[in-house]
Amino acid sequence: MKQDIDISVDFAGVRLANPVFTASGTCGYGDELADFMDVNVLGGFITKSITLKPRKGNATPRIVETDSGMLNAIGLANIGLDTFVEEKLPVLEKLSTAVFVNVAGETIDEYVAVAQRLAGEAAIAGFELNISCPNVAKGGISFGTEPLQAAEITSRVKEVVGEKVLMVKLSPAVTDISVIARAAVDGGADALSLVNTFTAMVIDIESRKAVLANRTGGLSGPAIKPIAVHLVNKVYNEVAKGCGIPILGLGGIRTASDAVEFIIAGASVVGIGTANFIEPGCAVKIIEGIKKYCVRKEIKSIKELVGSLEAG
Ligand SMILES: Cc1cc2nc3c(=O)[nH]c(=O)nc-3n(C[C@H](O)[C@H](O)[C@H](O)COP(=O)(O)O)c2cc1C
Repeated sequence: MKQDIDISVDFAGVRLANPVFTASGTCGYGDELADFMDVNVLGGFITKSITLKPRKGNATPRIVETDSGMLNAIGLANIGLDTFVEEKLPVLEKLSTAVFVNVAGETIDEYVAVAQRLAGEAAIAGFELNISCPNVAKGGISFGTEPLQAAEITSRVKEVVGEKVLMVKLSPAVTDISVIARAAVDGGADALSLVNTFTAMVIDIESRKAVLANRTGGLSGPAIKPIAVHLVNKVYNEVAKGCGIPILGLGGIRTASDAVEFIIAGASVVGIGTANFIEPGCAVKIIEGIKKYCVRKEIKSIKELVGSLEAG
């Protein structure tokens, strides 16, 4: 039975119908999921990373399946800002869900240029700054591993996006993720998203070569979920809770129970990535499952659940 209860959330000032997003890079630019689900049922949609110029990405093979997960080394392949504005923005303009554009680049100026061009677009609720891509030679993850750079890129982009929500996407590949989270908040981030993928490798023992042409790729999917839950809980306790900054938690979410785990750990909203390749449209089931959990536990608002992990 469909449970008709309100699971809307306030995410950094944006009202969302529910706390479920699709994750960057796993659902294209908005129209690719249409055969599987009504994108408008999502709390939020995040585009594939957009860079100033189109990028072909890395050589193939750039995807390989692993136990309970996958590695990707796509290398930020994307259509570039101009084509995005001409061809994809009109599609996104028709959506009623909150749209976030994921921005990437090789230099701070490139990030700023992309965000500045899109900041005035009414169809866009906010931006997700990808400072955590492990699969590119220049830029990408380097902004996300150095606190001073993380703060600088955040503040430079915040200057141009004005009132739009600026979410900064963190890498798990650091000694202390809270240090980078703090730097992003100090730089003006309105929200944090974590985590991006974990750098990993698969070897073909016959050829003794790495399976991916890039040698390494980012591990995602259920295999990373317990680590991601821990990192969300750590950033929630050490940074986000104190300053009231919401977290988008992601990493291996496949079911409503997975999503609720992230929320209890401290996420205000959650993202579904790799699971879209296994079961496109699973977000619908996850939204319904969260509602059922709230009814069963007599939870009146998602806010009550956020960071509600009990001691002991
Ligand atoms: C094929 C693929 C492409 C991705 N592309 C991007 C991207 O362009 N930008 C980005 O910020 N994250 C990208 N990600 C990372 C996901 O958004 C997400 O952070 C990560 O996969 C962990 O979530 P999951 O385990 O639910 O997939 C990509 C992930 C996959 C699997």
